[in-house]
Amino acid sequence: MSKKTVDVIVIGSGIAGLMTAHLLADHMNVMIITKSNVETSNSSWAQGGMAAAIGPLDNWKKHFADTIEAGGSHHKIDHVEMLVKRAPHIIKMLESMGVLFDKQKDGSLMLGLEGAHQHRRIVHAKGDQTGKVFTNALINALKGRVTIVEQTMVVKLLMDARRVIGVQTKSECIYAKAIVLATGGAGQLYTYTSNVPEATGDGFALAYRAGANLMDMEFVQFHPTLLVQESQTHGLISEAVRGEGAYLIDEKGNKLMDWHPLGDLAPRDVVSRAIESAIKQGEHIYLNYQPIKDFPERFPGLYQRCKQAKVDLEAKLLPVAPGAHFISGGIETDCYGRTSLSGLYAVGEVACTGVHGANRLASNSLLEGLVFAEQVATHIRTNPNPLQTDVGELPFEEMSIPLLPLPTKDEIQKQMTANVSIKRDGHHLQKMKQWLEPSMMQALHVDQLDDRWQLEQKNMLLVAWLMTEAALERTESRGGHFRSDYPHKDDQNWLRVYINHARNQGF
Ligand code: SIN
Repeated sequence: MSKKTVDVIVIGSGIAGLMTAHLLADHMNVMIITKSNVETSNSSWAQGGMAAAIGPLDNWKKHFADTIEAGGSHHKIDHVEMLVKRAPHIIKMLESMGVLFDKQKDGSLMLGLEGAHQHRRIVHAKGDQTGKVFTNALINALKGRVTIVEQTMVVKLLMDARRVIGVQTKSECIYAKAIVLATGGAGQLYTYTSNVPEATGDGFALAYRAGANLMDMEFVQFHPTLLVQESQTHGLISEAVRGEGAYLIDEKGNKLMDWHPLGDLAPRDVVSRAIESAIKQGEHIYLNYQPIKDFPERFPGLYQRCKQAKVDLEAKLLPVAPGAHFISGGIETDCYGRTSLSGLYAVGEVACTGVHGANRLASNSLLEGLVFAEQVATHIRTNPNPLQTDVGELPFEEMSIPLLPLPTKDEIQKQMTANVSIKRDGHHLQKMKQWLEPSMMQALHVDQLDDRWQLEQKNMLLVAWLMTEAALERTESRGGHFRSDYPHKDDQNWLRVYINHARNQGF
């Protein structure tokens, strides 16, 4: 196996990984490793935009309050304060890289509205193609400045005692002063998801196998409105569509969210549960976008997808269902993206910085990725670790148990959807645990011979386990975690109680 050294390895090519690499590229030798191609990421599919409290009646304190309210007061509040205060700076940074935000006739930035925000505060670009505009700007800025290794999966993190010193791929050991996990989320654990096919939870699994702390894995956010036609998903319908006046109805035309004070812009967990309950009772739910007169211009990406999916656009009704969208938990980090393992940083969705609490506020994810990328890059630049390459090749552990065929991805998705979904309860979570248990030893052990699909399967099983365990442990409902056997918040026992996992605590 060949050996290489660089200064910094960034694993993943979403907004957080790209920005980290961009901010380091003039100072250090950076390598981005991505398992498909650099253009593919959840970030590049992000539609709504980025939250920034810049409107005339708005301020960071209101953005802060909305973030805490949506996330069930489960946050690291100093991190939230940094996040919301930093938004105007991030806008300037992106503009200096050539990002053209959508503007009003008077030249001010257009501000969209999304669920649980008390003001219009979502800046966007090319209508609903904000993620693509941001990631393209970064990819262009990175040309010729970093090494980009595509179609390559990291098999495991290389360790020396509790320090991460590099990564192992199928053919190489690559050593670095700092390793940044920016691998995104795990929406592919569920049958319906807004996520790219690559979102199989790889970073969570890599970190867990290496012994890093993970927290809050029970908080899975389901987005209320995926475009779902005859059981096939055709991507996300941004909450911004409801922000512009679209509303949810059942087949008879009754409004679904009339009962809630925030109506169709109630927090995502609330709207998702309402849609799921209606669908379980045999209803079909639609988003009526009649009130949006300039729908094709304001939402060009969605309009094209509707045409491809052969949605009847005359009726102005989009068939919807909720789907897995975002993991609010992840690898525990401090304000510099440092994990519990020296040398290992995490940024973006794979990290749990504590800014989302139990349920991320809409359009806070691009912001988080960019703000914390700057934190990570600053820390790496100013605190370089020595390179360490003399530990020799690390053997893969021999498996001493007979190998069973692992469940397929499709089976994992079905089981997670049936047992660890929008509503959970102790009985179904136990069932899921029993189903996963026979595969766990294998999921913990990776092998040089594993191909991408086998690694993804193992990663999905391991992440499913972590989510199930955490969901079983939290005997209350908060944010994205709703237990029908414990349907209320229990502040006395659970307020700001974080469920942590680390490899040495069992599976
Ligand atoms: C959306 O546009 O509804 C998704 C944006 C987000 O998840 O923050």
